[in-house]
Amino acid sequence: MRDARLALAFPEPPTGRLLVIGADGAEDLSVFAPEITLIVEGMAHHHAALNARGFRTLTSPEGEAPFDHVLVTLPRSRDAARARIALGAAMLAPGGALWIDGQKTDGIESILKEIKGFSGLSDLHSKAHGKIARLTDPGAVPAGWAGGSFAPAPGFTTRAGVFSAEAVDPGSAALAAALPAKLPTRIVDLGAGWGWLSAQILTHPGVEVLHLVEADHTALECARANIADPRARFHWADARSFKLPDPVNGVIMNPPFHDGRSADPALGAAFIRTAASLLTGAGRLWMVANRHLPYEAELARHFADVSELGGDNRFKILTATGAGARHRRSR
Ligand SMILES: C[S@@+](CC[C@H](N)C(=O)[O-])C[C@H]1O[C@@H](n2cnc3c(N)ncnc32)[C@H](O)[C@@H]1O
Repeated sequence: MRDARLALAFPEPPTGRLLVIGADGAEDLSVFAPEITLIVEGMAHHHAALNARGFRTLTSPEGEAPFDHVLVTLPRSRDAARARIALGAAMLAPGGALWIDGQKTDGIESILKEIKGFSGLSDLHSKAHGKIARLTDPGAVPAGWAGGSFAPAPGFTTRAGVFSAEAVDPGSAALAAALPAKLPTRIVDLGAGWGWLSAQILTHPGVEVLHLVEADHTALECARANIADPRARFHWADARSFKLPDPVNGVIMNPPFHDGRSADPALGAAFIRTAASLLTGAGRLWMVANRHLPYEAELARHFADVSELGGDNRFKILTATGAGARHRRSR
């Protein structure tokens, strides 16, 4: 994948200081020496994996400039891609090299076309369903590409690239509408995003503590800005391995069902296992899922009592209680 293009773009390992904006925890970056490389990555699990591989890893490069080379990897969102490129340009030392790399499915061809409107491209390589190129005039990146914030609902702000940045997700809205009037005292929202669903949970009587668990650092920072409630606790973490010292009596979630571009119901199944591990036996899970996703079997493996609360032809709202009872019975 990307490593095949990196090998073409960097026949010799780069020297000086290198900034990589956006990297997957498992990708081959062996062309870059960890001693000279800083990686900015906001997804908690990729961040931790890169760090464990010996790379210095931050969520923002603020205060770290200048760099001799910056490699921007393309995210799926066009606004987020522009913001990354503007950030990369701002981090460069005079005369430094700004590289953009991405898959065709993430829009590399159209962003390179857009870049050609203000800068030349050199060292262009096409390989492995993607492209990498260097901007000849990184100083010409439009100032307007930085930033990219939205107001998806009254009182809420989000940033480019976070899930459902420009509007409330209809699945979360369906789940919020199906919740009972009174909610348990201690609740976890797994995959809390920029906090809209959590904010709705906090309007219900009964809630004493709400844990927002989110892997995307930018989304969690938006949630912090959106929710000024002392009952909220914010956790930048991978929900699949999230633990709390004490069990809770409610989990409410709209789990992700994509890992990158491909639909991956395994991700939602892992969220269900975490939910079961966090709940008391009498605690309850509420979740929304796209109707076609087969979560019932995983729910039945971890909960004694599973039912559908409602939904429509797009979504189903599922609820489950009796976490751990199945395992206890089969022992
Ligand atoms: C379908 S969205 C729901 C967002 C939010 N609850 C809402 O109402 O808008 C799923 C969220 O899970 C987050 N996510 C994806 N993988 C994750 C993981 N491994 N651990 C925690 N959160 C994750 C995504 O960044 C996204 O914000």
